[in-house]
Amino acid sequence: MSAELPILKIETVSKAFGGVQALSDITFSLNPGSITGLIGPNGAGKTTLFNLISGVFPADKGTILFNGNSIKNKKPHKLVELGISRTFQNVELFESMTVLENILVGQHTRTRCDMWSSILRFPWVAAEEKKAHEFAMALLGFVGLNGHADKTSEDLPFGWQRLLEIARALASSPELLLLDEPAAGLNIVETMQLGDLIKKIRKQGVTILLVEHDMSLTMEISDQIVVLDQGKKIAEGSPRMVQTDEAVIAAYLGTAGNKTED
Ligand SMILES: Nc1ncnc2c1ncn2[C@@H]1O[C@H](COP(=O)(O)OP(=O)(O)OP(=O)(O)O)[C@@H](O)[C@H]1O
Ligand SMILES: [Mg+2]
Repeated sequence: MSAELPILKIETVSKAFGGVQALSDITFSLNPGSITGLIGPNGAGKTTLFNLISGVFPADKGTILFNGNSIKNKKPHKLVELGISRTFQNVELFESMTVLENILVGQHTRTRCDMWSSILRFPWVAAEEKKAHEFAMALLGFVGLNGHADKTSEDLPFGWQRLLEIARALASSPELLLLDEPAAGLNIVETMQLGDLIKKIRKQGVTILLVEHDMSLTMEISDQIVVLDQGKKIAEGSPRMVQTDEAVIAAYLGTAGNKTED
């Protein structure tokens, strides 16, 4: 066990929707600067956990600590301000806005321009806007979207929309980044490039929680893996340990079996 203070600590967290127990007594922690793969068959509760960590809805039971402080009752925008940022399983961009505008929206919480100072055009507003613009352009370069700032985001190929969503999530300078199936819909080459990008983001000191069904990507880039099945944590450990874990194999074989019956 590391003596380091975890950046995120999930303690006996549960969440139900009507009769469906989406999460039961989930406990695990993330060390700062690590990449954790959160895996499990469809309906395991992965996105539900992301929704709890990002403040979309509260847990029924248990505690989530971010840098030692409870996130209870904190709204999504407040959690972004505190340093938790996310992407979505189904890409959620402002489709009619340009690529650059989408990133500037993500940055909004970190600039100090309010409505009145913008209207009155205080000199520092222009300086902040210039800084925001430069940062957004740098982020575009960072994710590999150089030269596409003025395109409408709905006109981007799907793989690039996923990259733009990551750039927007980075625009708030997060400490913790939650990626919900970032490789879904990407081809093999795009998936490899995504893996490199995620490692590059970690190098900047950002901690990453990655939900993914692409096992080769997840196993290659993750330091630790947490496995959920039907709302329960069934395994946790290094990629090597988890891949040979009997409960994990059974959970996945069960899913494969169900699929062949369709
Ligand atoms: N907002 C919601 N309202 C009602 N039920 C929900 C809601 N969100 C999730 N569920 C249910 O909770 C369970 C867990 O769903 P969740 O989306 O967290 O799974 P997942 O692991 O992300 O699956 P997938 O790999 O398919 O994305 C499922 O039974 C789902 O139908
Ligand atoms: Mg999901």
